[in-house]
Amino acid sequence: MKKVQLLSLILITTGFILTSCYQSAKNKEMIKKENFGIHQGKEVFLFTLTNKEGNVLKLTNYGAKITWIEIPDKAGKKENITFGFDTFDGTVNDDPYFGSVVGRYANRIAKGKFTLDSKEYSLALNNGPNALHGGPKGWHSVVWNSEIVEKTEYPTIKFSYLSPDMEEGYPGNMQIEVVYTWTDNNEIVIDYKCTTDKKTILNITNHAYFNLHGAGNGDILDHELVIKASSFIPVDSTLIPTGEIRPVSGSPFDFTTQHTIGERILESYDQLIYGKGYDHNFVLDNKEDVDITVYEPVSGRLMEVITDQPGVQFYCGNFLDGKIIGHGGKPYIFRSGLCLETQHYPDSPNHANFPDTELKPGETFNSKTIYRFSVK
Ligand code: GAL
Repeated sequence: MKKVQLLSLILITTGFILTSCYQSAKNKEMIKKENFGIHQGKEVFLFTLTNKEGNVLKLTNYGAKITWIEIPDKAGKKENITFGFDTFDGTVNDDPYFGSVVGRYANRIAKGKFTLDSKEYSLALNNGPNALHGGPKGWHSVVWNSEIVEKTEYPTIKFSYLSPDMEEGYPGNMQIEVVYTWTDNNEIVIDYKCTTDKKTILNITNHAYFNLHGAGNGDILDHELVIKASSFIPVDSTLIPTGEIRPVSGSPFDFTTQHTIGERILESYDQLIYGKGYDHNFVLDNKEDVDITVYEPVSGRLMEVITDQPGVQFYCGNFLDGKIIGHGGKPYIFRSGLCLETQHYPDSPNHANFPDTELKPGETFNSKTIYRFSVK
């Protein structure tokens, strides 16, 4: 090698090392890791991620949860817009999945039964006659491993968990990784990756509740919603899909153009009665960059959701009743939070006409959802 080539190689390598060191030092500055408590004999941490705009995302490895999203309104006033608790005890108590990763099968499975290769599996029934959100001890209620990912452009945390064979009745050892990135563009980027050593089923989501007025500040009925979904999944009175995929056109489920959540919620439409409001999976068209937008005109806060998943469970907090007291001592009242849980359709293993939710050994499930915040 000529002297000059060697010199350039040394310079490039040094540059690369310096940039990486700078990047990892910068990442550490943007992430604060605190001891939060001990649960199930494992350490639980609270991670505070601050982006270049000074906006804050807080995460914990209990349930791989999002516990705090602090973003400005149009006047620049910052406020937390997601449900959670200030205390460790609040965070590890059984709340309705605030900010949690939910699995192995998010949403409902009829009578807790499904069949794989002619073998029937039975899950615990934790929602009337059905199984919900991975069971009573699903992924929302376990302590995950955590890691600050260095050498990335933005603050990034990786949570991982090995879900053992037959945990909550699901076959196969499943290795899961959930990576949260908090960008300078106020985006929470969630990357999911799962593998298994036996054929199994999988439906994974994040169950954050949002109120763009600020969490605990009234209801979400005035939020203006667009869901790019031409159909939705009707359910029976126990919220299990009937198997129909129904066009939204002409119904209160048509959010292909902007409507407030409250505008049609009291109409006497069978599905609104079964769901006690909106609590349904929408079949995303997946044709445009942004799949869902939520705008709250008083604060001017806008949330955009982008996903590669085929559906989204739009739940508008119909089971909240003010008994849960969250951040800042504020009660979470009826319909004070909305969830947009990107996922497959409920009960897919029992409906051949729904997209497949099986995962086999040798395959890797990869998926990405982005929640992006801005003002307008
Ligand atoms: C949602 C589900 C609702 C309710 C809620 C938790 O994902 O669609 O029916 O179970 O979780 O309270």
